Amino acid sequence: MANVIVVGAQWGDEGKGKVVDIYTEYAQDVVRFQGGNNAGHTLVVGDQKTVLHLIPSGVLHEGKRCIIGNGVVLDPKVFLEEIDGLQRKGFLKDPAQLMVDGAVNLIMPYHKIIDIARERKSGAKKIGTTGRGIGPTYEDKVARRGIRFADLLKPETFKRKLAELLPEKNFYIEQYLGEKPLSEEEIFEEYMVYAERLRCYLGRVSPYLDQSMKAGHNILFEGAQGSLLDIDHGTYPYVTSSSTIAAGACTGTGIGPHRIDEVIGISKAYVTRVGEGPFPTELDDEMGERLRTAGGEFGATTGRPRRTGWLDIVALREAVRTNGLTGIALTKMDVLSEFESLKVCTAYRYGEQLLEEFPQDLDVLQECKPVYEEIAGWQKDICSLGSYADLPVQVKDYVDKIEAWTGCPVVLVSVGPRRDQTLIRSNPFA
Ligand code: GDP
Ligand code: IMO
Ligand code: MG
Repeated sequence: MANVIVVGAQWGDEGKGKVVDIYTEYAQDVVRFQGGNNAGHTLVVGDQKTVLHLIPSGVLHEGKRCIIGNGVVLDPKVFLEEIDGLQRKGFLKDPAQLMVDGAVNLIMPYHKIIDIARERKSGAKKIGTTGRGIGPTYEDKVARRGIRFADLLKPETFKRKLAELLPEKNFYIEQYLGEKPLSEEEIFEEYMVYAERLRCYLGRVSPYLDQSMKAGHNILFEGAQGSLLDIDHGTYPYVTSSSTIAAGACTGTGIGPHRIDEVIGISKAYVTRVGEGPFPTELDDEMGERLRTAGGEFGATTGRPRRTGWLDIVALREAVRTNGLTGIALTKMDVLSEFESLKVCTAYRYGEQLLEEFPQDLDVLQECKPVYEEIAGWQKDICSLGSYADLPVQVKDYVDKIEAWTGCPVVLVSVGPRRDQTLIRSNPFA
């Protein structure tokens, strides 16, 4: 029996959805523990592509339970659209396949307005959020004035909380942000329609997972965003508003850390980032454009072009430490196939100093210049290889070097978006 956490080891979009879909075969329950529909997790099965924003990436497997833990923030409108879309494709027919914890905080219409208007007002200082209301919802959660999923299902409670909150929100929206105020009646009516449809999904995640573990089931925890977007350990303030690192799986579901057996960090064979903030190995040139084109690097949630750059070992080592990674899953290896030679950043140059540790101070990080090691490319198509052993020697060298630089084993190599383009070297559930 093994309980496994999957987290992003970079700035998001590492291919978590694909790896979770692969690992679901070995688990009984798949659990989201933080973030909301700022996430966009892509699964490709055969020639069918599915992008999930809230529902765990195990949903395409029959008989597996998909769980949304208390640490998630949930937009009920988006959630219902996602359920409807999946049901139209023949998935999620049984409501018992999906469970939402009562303590999940709801994204309200005012959160989205505040997120978008604040970004607009910030101009050049904007964070580049997804505009989904994530930050303002977590703010209210921590300020102890959030509306939770369980409140939605009690009309009187929901009405009372909304009546208490909305005047202050409207004051801020109108007076400070210069936007139109919201109607309490309209929000109430809209959300009561959601409540009726969502009632069947209410559950208590912590005791459920405890029982499932005691019954000998394997649990798979699915992180969203990436370690460098973590509210505490990321490139603050250019981060998201939740604990994206592995520890978030415990607080975000209500299970103790000793129940976790393996923590797998997903890393692309290069790096991408969407939104603002420092990115030491960013390639703002033709090479960056080639990476973007070869990797199809456009956001799964907002469609924004992703910034691209060479693999950054300094940043990856940070993710190994903050998550306690027991394995790395290396994705998009096939994207590097066209390059004659590759670069990997193994340290930063900061003035006269050589830094091997990721700086916490953003002013320092902004000034860091990557120190590169050049590596031979392979220039062979690796998309349809059946086993790790068949990979060109240069690919294996690349993997060996990553293991040596990070001190962490590479347990999976992905060579394409599909399920059958996955080379498992060591299975964390075994
Ligand atoms: P997530 O947010 O971490 O789940 O990642 P996204 O779904 O946002 O972005 C990853 C993109 O890369 C998706 O379009 C995937 O279908 C695709 N992908 C995942 N693994 C591979 C791979 O090994 N090779 C290629 N070419 N594409 C991949
Ligand atoms: P997945 O799960 C990549 C980024 C945004 C922005 C910052 C804050 O698909 O990897 P937010 O809307 O969360 O307040 O935005 O975080 N961001 C992501 N970048 N992948 C994601 O999710 C992201 N979710 C948020 O672009 O820079
Ligand atoms: Mg994504």
